[in-house]
Amino acid sequence: MIDFNSIKRLTEDEFRNFARLIYEESGIFLKDAKITLLSNRLRKRLKALNLDEFSQYYDYITSLKDKTKELEALLDVVSTNETYFFRNERQFEALSKYSFPDIVKKKQKKRLRIWSAGCSTGEEPYTIAICVRENMHLFPDWDIQIVATDIAPSVLEFAREGHYSGRRIEKVSAPLLKKYFTQNRDNPEVYTVNDNLKNLVSFSYINLFKSKFPDDLDIIFCRNVMIYFDRQHQKELVGNFYKVLNPGGYLFIGHSETLHSLSEDFSYMKILDSPVYIPKEK
Ligand SMILES: C[S@@+](CC[C@H](N)C(=O)[O-])C[C@H]1O[C@@H](n2cnc3c(N)ncnc32)[C@H](O)[C@@H]1O
Repeated sequence: MIDFNSIKRLTEDEFRNFARLIYEESGIFLKDAKITLLSNRLRKRLKALNLDEFSQYYDYITSLKDKTKELEALLDVVSTNETYFFRNERQFEALSKYSFPDIVKKKQKKRLRIWSAGCSTGEEPYTIAICVRENMHLFPDWDIQIVATDIAPSVLEFAREGHYSGRRIEKVSAPLLKKYFTQNRDNPEVYTVNDNLKNLVSFSYINLFKSKFPDDLDIIFCRNVMIYFDRQHQKELVGNFYKVLNPGGYLFIGHSETLHSLSEDFSYMKILDSPVYIPKEK
């Protein structure tokens, strides 16, 4: 039996090989200081494949004829998926109080399409869905879709199931919990998202640097995702967001992120203390 906990850290060469592969496949840039983190995460793949050395895993993945599935599994363990409902809640206030009424006022076609890019385990798109439901009076007869995507298949599976507990739902108020979740009878700590939210959101796999983007979008949320990429990839991503965002649309990024010196295509606005970007005229 292999004792997986005894597998040592990646050597510097092994780290460089994996970091290059991960960067090429996902844009995720791992600094040298991430060697322990990457070792710990890769151990899960070694265990799943019953391999006892990192070099064996590298040889295995690079020699595969069709690498698709194993690359998905690799990026699944490598990605950081931290998220929770109403993360940076002022942004959701800005969305509800400013962006929604503005879009309704300006848009001819009664269709609202929102993309949560890098949605992780689903808390972000479901929070957006709560905001939509709470403001349905603005959208009579509208066709509303929230497209939620991620590179990690396991988080998408988790999101589709929609069972949440603890810190993940800490910021959901009691009335909203009651309205949009069902408490699990056997395990009262766990709340499951109701169909009135699930029906608004569709989850799918999108690698932001390899897959085709959704289009005809009014709002894009891409928060706490760009921080994992280098400048070149951030620039490419923001340029591609500009192409699929409708005029009059909105781009929400994370509080620690900025488009400053990355793109000239967007104007910066602060709404209710939240950074929001508006595409300039095309
Ligand atoms: C920290 S989570 C952010 C979740 C949520 N947006 C939030 O702010 O709470 C970052 C997510 O980006 C995803 N991600 C990283 N690189 C990606 C790529 N190249 N394409 C698509 N998703 C990616 C990760 O799998 C992870 O779930």
